[in-house]
Parts: sequence; C-alpha cells; structure tokens
Amino acid sequence: KRCTAIVLAAGQGTRMGTEIQKQYLELDGRPVLYYSLRTFQDSPLIDEIVLVVGEGQESYCRKEIVERFGIHKVSRITCGGTERYHSVWNGLQELSDDGYVFIHDGARPFVDEEIIERVYEHVVEYDACVVGMPVKDTIKTVDEQDFVTATPNRNLVWMIQTPQVFRTDIVKKAYGLLMECGAENITDDAMVVEQMLSLPIRLVRGSYENIKITTPEDLEIAGVFVRRKK
Ligand code: CTP
Ligand code: MG
Repeated sequence: KRCTAIVLAAGQGTRMGTEIQKQYLELDGRPVLYYSLRTFQDSPLIDEIVLVVGEGQESYCRKEIVERFGIHKVSRITCGGTERYHSVWNGLQELSDDGYVFIHDGARPFVDEEIIERVYEHVVEYDACVVGMPVKDTIKTVDEQDFVTATPNRNLVWMIQTPQVFRTDIVKKAYGLLMECGAENITDDAMVVEQMLSLPIRLVRGSYENIKITTPEDLEIAGVFVRRKK
C-alpha cells in the first residue's frame, strides 16, 4: 500500500521564542526540519513526502532544504494554516484516498526507521495508530485554581509523539467532519479521529529520544542526541 508522509513545518514556534522558527534552527549544522525529512527519504516504506510550510516559505524550503539535501521524495510543498490542524488539513488535500498517511511534526528530528516500521506493521492491522511512550513522571490533572482533580495510574498514561499514522480515507473523513463542525483545543490527529468517528486508536511505542523541539532546553538535548548518533 502507498505510504505518504506529511511533514508539518508551518508553526510559529512561540514557546521557543527565537527569531528564526525552530524548525529552521541549526542542529549540528543542519536545520531541525532536515532530520525527519532525511529519515522518511531513506525509509523504504515511504513513497512520497508532502511538506507543509508557512506562507511565503515554499521557495526557501524547496531550495535550501529539499534540493540542497536531495530529499527527492518531496512531491508537494504546500502552505500551512493558523493552527496545526489547519496545516494537516491542507496537507491532506494533496492526498488521494488510498494507502496510509504518516503525519509528522517537522520539529521532531529523531523519528527513526525502527519507529516507522513498527507503526506501519500496526496500522495495517488497526487502521489508526499513534506513536508515544509511557510517561516517566507522575501526571496529575488540576482545576483552574491548580488544585488536583485526579492522579491517573502512571502505567496507563502515555505521552504522545508523532508520526500519527492512519488509513488515509479514515483520517480525511475525520478532518472533513472537523472542518464542518469547528473545533477547539485540537492538539493531535488521533483526537480528530477519536472525536469525529469514535474509532479505536492503537498506541505504538516510539522512543524517549523522539522529542519535539519546543523550548530552548530541548535544542540542547537534541544536540547531545545528534552528536551521539554520528
Ligand atoms: N505546525 C504547523 N502549523 C501550525 C502549527 C504547528 O505545521 N499552524 C507544526 C509545527 O511546525 C511543528 C508541529 O506542528 O512541527 C508541532 O507543533 P508545535 O510544537 O506546537 O510547534 P509551533 O506551533 O511552531 O510552536 P508553538 O506552539 O510554541 O508556537
Ligand atoms: Mg503550536
């Protein structure tokens, strides 16, 4: 079955607070965005990559990232939207209904072939899979005044990463419904499939290295990981 990766790079990086958006910051001499593109490019399971970037950044990305590093599987570079789910929606418009789609944060440089293979094996069976890891810290939910409302069993709480992988027809249908009914606080793709279609989502182990670059200390940690891999 055909597998397409949608790589998201249209965010503003508000929490990082740097002038250059975090997906373009240098990590060991290459932009953060390069690393996940390289992994999908090199994966025998991935046929095609759709890259979603901020308005006006298409030609920069094509020249300075896609062409410069030879990421030939990038078939489209399309424009993102205000929220992450708008960017995903725009990316999904480029896809036909067959096969599977791997939706991935361009700010997550350490996805690897092992994760791609593991999640693919599962999605063929379960149709909707997200990569994540069990949390290490105890998690508590709180009310608006910061009083604890619950402490879920730590063994049953996972932090969610990407790729999030779906049968393309299913996720397109879910996003179509979302765009019709409107949405609030949509932070990942599985939520859309959960809420719009009530389908079961299978969690698949990612890795503790598959971090998202969100705040400045994440970039320092990423520096350690990238140098260790060399
Ligand atoms: N993203 C996107 N379009 C948006 C928002 C986010 O393509 N409108 C992408 C980001 O570029 C990133 C991924 O989705 O690769 C995860 O989002 P997040 O970590 O929240 O990145 P930002 O939204 O850029 O950061 P912040 O929330 O701190 O502003
Ligand atoms: Mg964001």
